[in-house]
Amino acid sequence: MKKMILATSLILGFCAAAMAEDGAALFKKCAACHGPTGEKPALGKSKVIKDMTKADIEKALIGYQDGTYGASSKAVMKGQAASLTPAQITAIATLIGK
Ligand code: HEC
Repeated sequence: MKKMILATSLILGFCAAAMAEDGAALFKKCAACHGPTGEKPALGKSKVIKDMTKADIEKALIGYQDGTYGASSKAVMKGQAASLTPAQITAIATLIGK
């Protein structure tokens, strides 16, 4: 019985970890262009995203995915945003935005 309780709690713990998105881990690939805290204009083109609100970052990332947001370099960001889930977008926006 003890073993079963242990196994169950391990499985539940694993699921919880998989569901909670880690914004810091996700932002690592973004940091190359945007800087570790989003403090750089990426490729000299983008806004300083750490100065954007959480809602604006979410709107921008969803917009790059569906083609409704962006300026001259939006093709770069379409590729970056394409595979992000809504939960991952929220995690990133919460970490970087105001
Ligand atoms: C290869 C460099 C590069 C990488 C990597 C990158 N970006 Fe960008 N990002 C850009 C550029 C360039 C722009 C401006 C695009 C445009 O013209 O709309 C931009 C724009 C943005 C914007 C909107 C800012 C604005 O100017 O309106 C957000 C938010 C953003 N990026 C978030 C991210 C996130 C989150 C990631 C990681 C998943 C990421 N970026 C990865 C280059 C990059």
